[in-house]
Amino acid sequence: MSELLTLATSIAREAGRIARDRFHEPRTIATKSSEIDLVTDVDHALDALLRGRILASRSNDGLLTEENTAHAGSSGVRWIVDPLDGTTNYAHAFPHFSISIGIEVDGRREIAVVHDPMRDETFTAQRGRGASLNAAPIRVSKIAELRRALLATGFAYDVHTRRTPNLDYFGRFMTRAQAIRRAGSAALDLAYVACGRFEGYWELNLSPWDVAAGLLLVEEAGGRTSDIDGASAPASGARVVASNGAVHEAMLEVLRG
Ligand code: IPD
Ligand code: CA
Ligand code: CA
Repeated sequence: MSELLTLATSIAREAGRIARDRFHEPRTIATKSSEIDLVTDVDHALDALLRGRILASRSNDGLLTEENTAHAGSSGVRWIVDPLDGTTNYAHAFPHFSISIGIEVDGRREIAVVHDPMRDETFTAQRGRGASLNAAPIRVSKIAELRRALLATGFAYDVHTRRTPNLDYFGRFMTRAQAIRRAGSAALDLAYVACGRFEGYWELNLSPWDVAAGLLLVEEAGGRTSDIDGASAPASGARVVASNGAVHEAMLEVLRG
């Protein structure tokens, strides 16, 4: 298992060097599901690089990446990769984005890597062995009151055209928490819960690659993850709440309305 973590860390960091090197270059930007759902040439370049590296070393593993068709494996190991989480930020040269790699074995999250190349921060976790930031152990924060909590969220790319309850949730938390950030990388939002920068995070309509690494980071750092009704957090990323544990019930109560 630790060999998988070493491999995932090394290829996330390699992809990160490319993202950082190309950060000030002009972007080629296209749209996907809506006019605000962007994809850059760097998303595609990182997807291809990560895919190539993973399949070259682990050809029997399954692989799901955001910008390509899924590869079915036979080993029971599945890589779930967001090559660039924070594309809107990247497109605007706002230096907050990450490479996210989660690895499942027989359907269970086992390995997590979230790498922020601009700050050179690599968050890693292995089931049962805790979570780390640049190889130093991390824990969630101890703040237990919502009014002292810094929370994070995000919005899906259909926010212009589909009425989302998250605008209501955002309004409720705005008057209950200390503050809310919408920083634009779900994987980093979860990593920041894991290392105690955020007390909590919630979001709707994410995808598996947004949460595959981050949920394990939070769990291994001593936090709690769930669906917005308190059931276990779905791997689909459809409705996610992650926290330091201490503010979790208060967050669920606000979400219940
Ligand atoms: C997005 C980011 C953002 C979240 C969106 C995601 P992308 O991923 O994680 O923070 O709010 O829901 O789709 O498109 O930059 O990989
Ligand atoms: Ca993403
Ligand atoms: Ca992405």
